[in-house]
Amino acid sequence: MTPLSLPLLYLLLHFLPALSLEFLFNSFNSSDLILVGDAKIDSSVIRLTSDSNQNSIGRAFYPTKINMKPTSNSTKISSFSTSFVFSVYPQISSNPGVGFAFVISNTTSPPNALPDQYFGLFSNSKKPSVFPLIAIEFDTGQNPEFNDPDGNHVGIDLDNIESVITETAGYYDSVSGNFTPVNMRSGNNVRAWIDFEGSNFQVNVTIAPIGVNKPSKPLLSYTNSVIADYVSDEMFVGFSASKFTWVEIQRVLAWSFSDTGTARDLNTTNLPNFVPKSVSSLSSGAIVGISVACVAVLVVFLTGVHWFWRRRRVLEGEDEEIEDWELEYWPHRFSYEELGQATSGFSEENLLGKGGFGTVYKGNLAANNNEVAVKCVNHDSKQGLREFMAEISSIGRLQQKNLVPMRGWCRKGKELLLVYDYMPNGSLNDWIFDKPKKVLDWKGRRRVLTDVAAGLNYLHHGYNEVVLHRDIKSSNILLDKDMRGRLGDFGLAKLYQHGGVPNTTRLVGTLGYLAPELASLAAPTAASDVYSFGVVILEVVSGRRPIETCSKEDDPFLLIDWVRELYCEGKVSEACDDTVKSECEVEEIEMVLKLGLACCHPDPQHRPSMKEVVAIFSDGVLSLPENVEAELAHGVCSGSDGNNAGLPLHSTEPQSQV
Ligand SMILES: *[C@@H]1O[C@H](CO)[C@@H](O)[C@H](O)[C@H]1NC(C)=O
Ligand SMILES: *[C@@H]1O[C@H](CO)[C@@H](O)[C@H](O)[C@H]1NC(C)=O
Ligand SMILES: *[C@@H]1O[C@H](CO)[C@@H](O)[C@H](O)[C@H]1NC(C)=O
Ligand SMILES: *[C@@H]1O[C@H](CO)[C@@H](O)[C@H](O)[C@H]1NC(C)=O
Ligand SMILES: *[C@@H]1O[C@H](CO)[C@@H](O)[C@H](O)[C@H]1NC(C)=O
Repeated sequence: MTPLSLPLLYLLLHFLPALSLEFLFNSFNSSDLILVGDAKIDSSVIRLTSDSNQNSIGRAFYPTKINMKPTSNSTKISSFSTSFVFSVYPQISSNPGVGFAFVISNTTSPPNALPDQYFGLFSNSKKPSVFPLIAIEFDTGQNPEFNDPDGNHVGIDLDNIESVITETAGYYDSVSGNFTPVNMRSGNNVRAWIDFEGSNFQVNVTIAPIGVNKPSKPLLSYTNSVIADYVSDEMFVGFSASKFTWVEIQRVLAWSFSDTGTARDLNTTNLPNFVPKSVSSLSSGAIVGISVACVAVLVVFLTGVHWFWRRRRVLEGEDEEIEDWELEYWPHRFSYEELGQATSGFSEENLLGKGGFGTVYKGNLAANNNEVAVKCVNHDSKQGLREFMAEISSIGRLQQKNLVPMRGWCRKGKELLLVYDYMPNGSLNDWIFDKPKKVLDWKGRRRVLTDVAAGLNYLHHGYNEVVLHRDIKSSNILLDKDMRGRLGDFGLAKLYQHGGVPNTTRLVGTLGYLAPELASLAAPTAASDVYSFGVVILEVVSGRRPIETCSKEDDPFLLIDWVRELYCEGKVSEACDDTVKSECEVEEIEMVLKLGLACCHPDPQHRPSMKEVVAIFSDGVLSLPENVEAELAHGVCSGSDGNNAGLPLHSTEPQSQV
C-alpha cells in the first residue's frame, strides 16, 4: 500500500457509510432483501405472512441500514422519502383483519415481537420502552383496546402498538380537496408515499389507488420532536406483518426509496393485480355477455326491491339494520325471530332468572334441538356496544371445558341477546345456600372449585391475551349435567393484552367480591379476579355469604374478616360448613380455607396466581406450598408485622354499578 492511498482509504472509510441511498424495485427477487420469518418472494412480489402458519410473522428489509443521523451523537435526524405499492386481501372478508406496517428499525428482529394484531413488531410490555423503532401501520382491523378508530386506518406508531396519530384510509383530491375513502383490504393495489422530514421532525403519509397521482395534501401529518427518541444512527427500512388463524394476504409489489430527495416514481403499469377475477370476465361471446347483463339488471332490480322492503321494515321497527361492523365481529349472528321461536316468544314459562344485567330465558334451537340460555342485556350506547362486541367476539373464541360455551348473539334495538349453552343444574349459589333443598357434598364442592380454578386459569394464562372475568361470584358459576363447574357470564369481562396497561375507569363487579385495591384504582387485574375467586372458596367451604346483614344497627357480617380472625386465632377449620364437616380430614378443610385467605390477601402482589391455585388443587396435597403459606402468615394477621398497614381489609369496597 503506497503512503498516498492511505488518506484516500481513510476518506472512503469515513464517508462511505454517509453516502446516500437510493433504490427502486418494480419487482423483487429473494437476493434483494433480508427476509425474516415467513416472508418470501412469490412471483416477484413480497408476501409477508404464511397462510398455513397460524400466528405467522414475516418481515422484509432492505439489506443495508440507512443513516438516520449525520453523526452518532447528533440531535439532528436525517430525512428520506419512500413510495411503495401494496395489496391486502383476506380469504374471508368478515374475518378479523390485521394489515401490515412500513417499519424503520434498529434491528430486523425487534425484541418480544408478537403476532396477531401486533404486526410482528410490538410487544405488549407494560414498561414504556424507547426502542429505535417507528412504524407506519396500514391497519385493516379494529382493536378497541388500542384505540383504533375503525378497521381501515393508517397510523404512526412510536415503538408502541397504540398509535400517536391515526386517520381513516383515504385521500384528498388535489383539485377539489374532497376526501375519498380507500378500502385497503379489497386486494386492489394501493400506493403509499411516506415523507420523513428529519429537520423538523415531521412524517407525512399519503395513500391513493393506482391511477391517482400523489395527492398534494397528505392523509396524515405528524410533527413532534419525540420522533428523535425513536431513531438510532443507522436503521433498517422495510415491511412487517403478522396474522391470526385467519388468512390475510399482505403483498408489497414495488418499492422505491431515497434519502437525498424525493423517491423515484414507480412504474405501476405492469404490476400484477391480485383481486380475484369477477364472474363477468369469465364470459366470452356476445350471448354470454347479454345474458350476464340481463341477470345483472335483474339482480339490481331485486336488490332494490329487497332494500326498499327492508328499509320499510326497519322504519316500522320490525327489523334491525345490520351494520357492517356487526358482521365483522361475530360469525354466529342469530335472527331475532329464531331466538323468539326458541324461547316461545320470551314467555314467562321460559324465564330462568332476572338480574341486574337483564333477564335470562331458556330456549330450544329448532335447527339442532340444542338447549340454550338466552341472556337479554340492555345497552345504552352504540359505541359501547361496539366495544363490547369486539370483546365478546374474542371471548366467543375461547373454548374450554370449564367455561360456559357461548353460541352467538343477536341485537334488536337497544337489546343485546347473548346465547349460551343451557346448564341444567343451575348456579353454584343454589347448591351452597339453598339448604336443605340442594346440598353439595364436600367432594362436589372441591371438584367445582377445581373446575372453576382451571377455567379462570385458562382465561388468565391459556390464551395469548389475558382475559379478565371481573365478576366472579358463586351465582356466576354454573353446574353442567355432570355437576362440573363452569364459569359463566363474560358479559363484564374485558380483554386485556398480557402486561398491557388496563385503561378502564368504570368499576364493575359485585359488592363483597371486589378486591380492596379496586376502591382506589378501579383498574381490575388478574389479581383482583384471584381475590374474587378467594371469596368464592370461603363461601363454598363455609356455606356463608360474603356479606350478611342481620339488622340495620348491627355491623354486617363480613365473611373474610371472620375467617381471617379464626385463622389468626389458629382455628380456621371452625369456619367449615357443618353439613360437610364430617366428610373429610380437618387438614384438607384447613388447607382450602387458607388457600381462600391467601387469594384474598389485602396486597394484590402477594396473592397466588391462578396457575399456582390450579396446581394446589390438582396436587391433592393436604398442605399449602411454603411460599403461599409464608405470604399468608405475613400479611394477613394484622399486628404480626406492618406489612399491610394502610391497606383496607374490607368495608371500603366501592358500590357496585351493576
Ligand atoms: C436477483 O437479482 C440479481 C440482480 O439484481 C441477480 O444477480 C440474481 O441472479 C437474481 N436472482 C434470482 C434468483 O433471480
Ligand atoms: C460526541 O460528543 C462528545 C461530547 O459532546 C464529543 O467529545 C465526541 O467527540 C462526540 N462524538 C462524535 C462521534 O461526534
Ligand atoms: C442499534 O443496533 C446497534 C447494532 O446492532 C447496537 O450496537 C445499538 O446498541 C443499537 N441501538 C440501540 C439504541 O438499541
Ligand atoms: C407535510 O404535510 C404538511 C401539511 O400538508 C406540509 O405543510 C409539509 O410541507 C409536508 N412535508 C413534507 C416533507 O412533505
Ligand atoms: C412503464 O413500463 C411500461 C412497460 O413495462 C412502459 O411501456 C412504460 O413506458 C413505462 N412508463 C414509464 C413512465 O416509464
